[in-house]
Amino acid sequence: MAQIIDGKKASAKLLSQVAGDVIEFKAKHGITPGLAVVLVGDDPASQVYVRNKVQRAEQVGIRSIEHRLDANVSQAELNALVDELNANPDVHGILVQLPLPGHLDEDRIVDAIAPSKDVDGFHSLNVAALATGKPGLVPCTPQGSMTMLSETLGDLTGLHAVVIGRSNIVGKPMAALLLQANCTVTMVHSRTRDIASVCRQADILVAAVGVPKLVKADWVKPGATVIDVGINVEIIDGARKLFGDVDFASVSEVAGAITPVPGGVGPMTIANLLANTLQAAESQMP
Ligand code: GUN
Repeated sequence: MAQIIDGKKASAKLLSQVAGDVIEFKAKHGITPGLAVVLVGDDPASQVYVRNKVQRAEQVGIRSIEHRLDANVSQAELNALVDELNANPDVHGILVQLPLPGHLDEDRIVDAIAPSKDVDGFHSLNVAALATGKPGLVPCTPQGSMTMLSETLGDLTGLHAVVIGRSNIVGKPMAALLLQANCTVTMVHSRTRDIASVCRQADILVAAVGVPKLVKADWVKPGATVIDVGINVEIIDGARKLFGDVDFASVSEVAGAITPVPGGVGPMTIANLLANTLQAAESQMP
């Protein structure tokens, strides 16, 4: 039976670190770090994520300002809000919850955020910085996954990491971070031939595709470390239940270590968002 990698415990540790650093920041600069969270429309999952982010921010002493916009908001109106937040010195981090309604251009909105306030690490300049190994703001979910991998395995040098999924939010930045940590990195996706046999070669297997229970026991090398980024909601007998991209019951019999869903990567994402907000605030101080 695999070791369960406890994301709640890891995130509690990081959150308490951030809370301590926020106290120091306030003492040094006489101001409170501020995070603006923008939610467009009424997607139920996004509402839950945003509520959690705002609550956790308050808990570590970061002031959070929530902006809720109607699903019909125009590109110009949303851009105007982002411009206003960019110019507001009390706002150190800006997060626009994705996905946006179809009529809005996500790339344009993300690139309208000041790179120094882009706490998601999605701005083209932060993406370029990560790809070329320069300092910048790093996406929260991959960063959290790396922390859990390091705490589980120590040095990752030379390990073969396979990342399932090629999203801009998780798959691609995850691959960049694993490469920086000296892993041999393979990316697989929906067009990969014989995906199971590629995954079976992995010492580290990261699943980030949004397909419930896609990864089965025979995709996993015995003893491998499995990071499950998926958060898939299914209604079973009227009850809302979360499933990862990994078939936990069978894979936990084979893997050496595995993150559960819920209680794995999810809590680490939020903790890293707040760490990024503090980093952004520091970088904006004179
Ligand atoms: N939607 C799903 N994950 C994320 C995230 O990490 N940040 C934002 N802004 N939107 C998301």
